[in-house]
Amino acid sequence: NCKRLPDDPNYGDKAGDRFLYNGYVLHGEMIKNGTIRDVKNFEFRPQDVVVASFPKSGTTWLEEIVFLIQTHLDFKLAASTILESRFPYLEYPYPGLKSIAKQQGGRMIKTHLPLSLLPDDLLQKGTKVIYIMRNPKDVAVSYYHFFRLLSFVNYKGEFRDFLKSFMKNEVVYTPYFPHVLEYWNNRDNPNLLVVHFEEMKKDPETVVQKISNFLGKDLTYDEVRMIVEHTRFENMAINPSVNYSHWEDLGLVNKNEGKFFRKGAVGDWQNYFSEDLNRDFDSWISQNLENTKLAFIFAD
Ligand code: A3P
Repeated sequence: NCKRLPDDPNYGDKAGDRFLYNGYVLHGEMIKNGTIRDVKNFEFRPQDVVVASFPKSGTTWLEEIVFLIQTHLDFKLAASTILESRFPYLEYPYPGLKSIAKQQGGRMIKTHLPLSLLPDDLLQKGTKVIYIMRNPKDVAVSYYHFFRLLSFVNYKGEFRDFLKSFMKNEVVYTPYFPHVLEYWNNRDNPNLLVVHFEEMKKDPETVVQKISNFLGKDLTYDEVRMIVEHTRFENMAINPSVNYSHWEDLGLVNKNEGKFFRKGAVGDWQNYFSEDLNRDFDSWISQNLENTKLAFIFAD
């Protein structure tokens, strides 16, 4: 169940190495070094908290919120250790599965994998999983910029090219709809909480409260307010512990392509979708959401 996708000239050298693996596009490295197989057998613990998402859906934002809730607002630790160390990325080579497995006690783990590529019993173990979703138009715009920003992806195409390959399920972690629906269809499972980027923008206090209830943590209203303030876009964008500014020193970003913290808005897609792209995309959404109760919010 593994097939290499044809090269796409819009990608830099290594980034084009994509495989279709059990229905999802993954980077070749994840398959060749066996990570994806090891993930399926990874031992999650009942005390673990997992933040899961399709890329560019607000993962970083949710991770910082969850970290503060889990540590009862340890702002000191949040400031002194970068998020990637506090919240390791499950399927990424660094720090890697072995290192995550060695961490004691309840861990906080990030993943972009769909449920079907994670251990079959993940939602039966007591491990708490929070999935964040965002409307696919804003996701596509954010993802496009991200692929131009990352020097090891070096995407050279126009937005239109990117969107077409997104709709054709050729971008890493697509297909988008099955990814979202695998989680959404399990939303009644008591170990899974699904939150929306757009509801976090509109009413962050309520969402932070909801997440803390889900994690079994009691927060006062003032504590909720402190977390909301700390995790506002403007504050996270200047916080070196979460804004990935160290990627610049590591040579991972193209400096002329903006920043990871780009706009953080709902509806920026309107600046990128032409009328015809929007029509095609809307009909693609309708086909994919037929017979589901899922709806997205596309504007403030
Ligand atoms: P934009 O590119 O639209 O600005 P992820 O963390 O999943 O990679 O998602 C990144 C997207 O979330 C980026 O979107 C980023 O700006 C946005 N984001 C990150 N933190 C945010 C916050 N506190 N409030 C609003 N948006 C945020």
